[in-house]
Amino acid sequence: MSVMAVLNILKVPDPFLKKKVKKVQDITPEVLKILDDMAETMYYSNGVGLAASQVGIDMRLVTIDISNEERKSELLKMINPEIMEGGGELVMEEGCLSVPGIRDEVKRFKSVKFRYLDTDGVERVIDDDGLLARVIQHEIDHLDGIVFIDRLSPLKKAIYYRRLKKEAKKRRDELKM
Ligand code: NI
Repeated sequence: MSVMAVLNILKVPDPFLKKKVKKVQDITPEVLKILDDMAETMYYSNGVGLAASQVGIDMRLVTIDISNEERKSELLKMINPEIMEGGGELVMEEGCLSVPGIRDEVKRFKSVKFRYLDTDGVERVIDDDGLLARVIQHEIDHLDGIVFIDRLSPLKKAIYYRRLKKEAKKRRDELKM
């Protein structure tokens, strides 16, 4: 048994967040360990979803757990998730562990059908029109190098990137002290 670890979450403007990460070819023990660590990191950060891109790993891996007190759910560990179909439109407020301090409304499909491989390599298909549909679209965007502020108007996007760059510089300056 290996000990789980909380990983460091990259923040915008880290260039790795712009990268389209690679499909997983083999489900190795390393891949399973990364999924465990991602889940640990997601729970530690109070997130509902995490993409491997956010922890600097070049693999199409996502963890999601949308459960709360009213809605019991389970941890989803997904390998190579992809959207098969999308329908409708819904504007909803989003935030992101890689985009600290910013929340804004994003338009996405209301419902999606998506597939992924589970940790046994079995293909799973899910149809959802609730929070899971929203979160999986956000996480697959990460795997394609897109963060939610990239989906806002050019003006808002520019303002948010400027703010995030300033904050990143401040963090670096603080580390030098
Ligand atoms: Ni995110």
